[in-house]
Amino acid sequence: MTDTTTAQAAVEGAPLKRLFIKTYGCQMNVYDSERMADVLRPLGYGMVDDPEGADLVVLNTCHIREKATEKVYSELGQIKLMKNRKAEAGGQMTIAVAGCVAQAEGKEIMHRQPAVDLVVGPQAYHQLPELIARAHRHSGERLSADFAADEKFDALPAERHVTGVTAFLTVQEGCDKFCTFCVVPYTRGGEWSRPMDTIVAEAQGLADKGVREVTLLGQNVNAYEGGLANLVRRLAKIDGLDRIRYTTSHPADMDEALIEAHGELPELMPYLHLPVQSGSDKILKAMNRAHTAESYLRLVEKIRAARPDIAMSGDFIVGFPGERDGDFEATLNLIREVRYAAAFSFKYSKRPGTPASAMPGQVAEEVKEERLARLLALLDEQTIGFNNRVVGRTVPVLFERKGRHLGQIVGRSPYLNGVHCEGPEQLIGQIVPVKITGASKNSLAGVLAPVLEPA
Ligand code: SAH
Ligand code: SF4
Ligand code: F3S
Repeated sequence: MTDTTTAQAAVEGAPLKRLFIKTYGCQMNVYDSERMADVLRPLGYGMVDDPEGADLVVLNTCHIREKATEKVYSELGQIKLMKNRKAEAGGQMTIAVAGCVAQAEGKEIMHRQPAVDLVVGPQAYHQLPELIARAHRHSGERLSADFAADEKFDALPAERHVTGVTAFLTVQEGCDKFCTFCVVPYTRGGEWSRPMDTIVAEAQGLADKGVREVTLLGQNVNAYEGGLANLVRRLAKIDGLDRIRYTTSHPADMDEALIEAHGELPELMPYLHLPVQSGSDKILKAMNRAHTAESYLRLVEKIRAARPDIAMSGDFIVGFPGERDGDFEATLNLIREVRYAAAFSFKYSKRPGTPASAMPGQVAEEVKEERLARLLALLDEQTIGFNNRVVGRTVPVLFERKGRHLGQIVGRSPYLNGVHCEGPEQLIGQIVPVKITGASKNSLAGVLAPVLEPA
């Protein structure tokens, strides 16, 4: 099936065809973009970092909030100008829209922006070569893929192109939770898990290429069928794969086995993204979250009993319909109890077709702004507090790349903080003890240390 001459030429010289991919949204889109590049590489496409003059431009889009969707249309306006310039010079640019906006709005995208040549949903990336070939054979024909294909993972090439020492690995897709504010169950479909053996094989392939850390991905990764803890335990046995992370987790799927694994497996990093969204039971109920503030707090307590130093992270929505001052105060109180190391907060955004968009009590923009500012102030304070508590300790750092300054290398602590320090480039790809000497909101500074502190 692969055209080896083309692949060979692309490997040896400059790429024959220039591919530009822009990724919006979550890590699952980052993974998908890499896989699209893997699908297209055998056809002679090589990645470039400027869309100007590219042969194929892919926008891998996100539908989660209104702003995310609007960004796509304004970007398409720019890309269209580039397409026109290329056509004037006698060339041809193909524009593809992929991801969750493609899934949600499908062919409408082509009406709204006629420069778009093809639209492909998140489950159909393996069809890209076919779609592109057809678009080229019948120049001017505009296409969209079958959005419901679920043989994606089987059809993607086994071989992954690896560029660093860390990698994402999607293990689960979709969501059955139907939180009333969220489009994901509509754009990504129902919960579906990849078979464990194929994941282990993909991870082994990554480790063989020098990857030391994988982040397992899923919209509800801890709902992984077969048990996320079982999967993590198998991956922990792979030689060279020393760090395992996963995201995003739903509180309702945080089972005993996974909590236990956090206490037992040194490979499982002490960082947990566990979105709570709100601290008000009334709002949580209206959101159709399957937890209360209290049950979430008890869960965090249990996790901390298993792994006391775990860095907790979360997502928050302010201004959900019906949210009063008292509800918002309950969110602040929950945050004070949990003490987060990191967090992502959003103003509620009305999404077409979701139940919450039709609920009474929509909150005014100014109120959302004001609540978000207060939420961010509190969360920033907690992040700085967490980072300051690491100062003075010696922690293992996986170095990933050179830093901005000469002689500087950059990596991550077990808690996912960026860490920079002076050191030789040869340490990139290694896990090395670093004594932390300083902290800011966004990163830690340190010096190479002779040995780790006793645990
Ligand atoms: N599956 C993950 C979340 C995926 S979406 C989970 O359940 O935690 C990532 C985050 O975007 C959500 O946690 C939520 O905080 C936010 N989000 C989703 N829909 C939103 C909306 N309509 N308005 C504002 N934020 C939203
Ligand atoms: Fe969206 Fe809720 Fe599913 Fe997360 S659990 S993806 S917030 S519906
Ligand atoms: Fe966005 Fe789709 Fe991810 S809506 S957050 S890209 S699952």
